Amino acid sequence: MTSPDLPEGILRDLLASPDRAATPGQPPICSLNGEEDPHELAAWSPWIRERLQLSRRGVDHGEWLILTEDAVPLGPQPPIEALWEQHWFEARPIPIRGWAPTVPIEDCMAWHGVLRRPKGLRAFLSERSGALGQTFAPGSNMHLADPHRDLERIRIGSDHDLWVKLGRLSAHDQDHSLRVRHSFGKEIVDDASRDIEAHRLVAEMAEILWPIAARFPKQDEWGERLVRWIEQPVLRTQHIAYFNAPEGGALWHHDAFDEPLEGGQRGVLYVQLAGRTAWLACSIDALCKRMQEFLEYLAEGELPWVLAESLPGAGALDGLIKLSERFPRMRRELGRPGGGAFGPLLGRGEFSALCADAGHAYLLEPGDALLMPNHGLERTVMHSVFCADPHVTLGLSMALREDRPAPVPEIRRHVPGARRSRRGPRRRV
Ligand SMILES: [Fe+2]
Repeated sequence: MTSPDLPEGILRDLLASPDRAATPGQPPICSLNGEEDPHELAAWSPWIRERLQLSRRGVDHGEWLILTEDAVPLGPQPPIEALWEQHWFEARPIPIRGWAPTVPIEDCMAWHGVLRRPKGLRAFLSERSGALGQTFAPGSNMHLADPHRDLERIRIGSDHDLWVKLGRLSAHDQDHSLRVRHSFGKEIVDDASRDIEAHRLVAEMAEILWPIAARFPKQDEWGERLVRWIEQPVLRTQHIAYFNAPEGGALWHHDAFDEPLEGGQRGVLYVQLAGRTAWLACSIDALCKRMQEFLEYLAEGELPWVLAESLPGAGALDGLIKLSERFPRMRRELGRPGGGAFGPLLGRGEFSALCADAGHAYLLEPGDALLMPNHGLERTVMHSVFCADPHVTLGLSMALREDRPAPVPEIRRHVPGARRSRRGPRRRV
């Protein structure tokens, strides 16, 4: 259903398409391919908030058209509680506008400036040593697991195996993005640990280093919903601060672990604190459908340069089409690091445009949050992130954990060699 005032044409048909995902309260976003009728576009000007050019690590992801919320009135919707519950249990992203306090952009830039310098993390922690006290005093430097992206990892305190790590998001020379992880134990092996006491200490440490995190609402309507859906009080932990800079962001990935649902990591909450980020986010099933559509276009001879550049080998497209015939296999493949065999297509700007047109694009402004439910590897939110400003931005993500998890099921604990690991990329790339 569209307003009768809206201009007729391709754009209106696309925005009103019944199979386009649409979320109440969100500005509609679609892509522009440069071939739009200028008269049609001009007629939309009362509803156009912004045109946003996206680029990540030298790859052009096209231009997005950000419209006003009233540009495309949604058809009949279920009551809002039912809608959010549906999003939660179907592992669809839940955008929450204006949920959190914000950080002045000057602070974001100053912190990024400190962290970018040699031994930047050491300096950042030293500036906060008074607040960290003896319990969380910075200690020795630790081993770096990823020599290409990790910059510093510093032990925190002496009793609990806590650490803070500074890393780059990519080795691209134009991408000055940084991230600061807060966790404990062995990297990768303990990422999904259910040691709730250690998780509480990580949360305490992170809220000292990022005091704004202690001011995020806890007992509000979203806090109540999470308790209802997870059936437990919820602990926010394993914070990651993201300084997404121009040309930065994250490739498509999920944040789920290969673990039993109960007692595990139940979702991730990302909060935009300064500047803006652009997101593509949808359930892993929706991403499968979008990829199937993309493969159909390619098979019909559309976008021939995509095939030539990304799938040059004979039979490469047929191989992917075969792989996409079975949803379970396709889900597994898309969830692998870098999207597995689908990686060359997932990272294309043309695929980003298709996903935006399907209604999976979000623009997060300071104070906005994005809730990403996890119900295991087969029911999780896939997401891809871009910097949406010409300067560095800041966001903070937190893992949502059951505050009183049941013990790990015996069957998992005693299977020889069984370890809670992920088939997908390391959590929150
Ligand atoms: Fe993530």
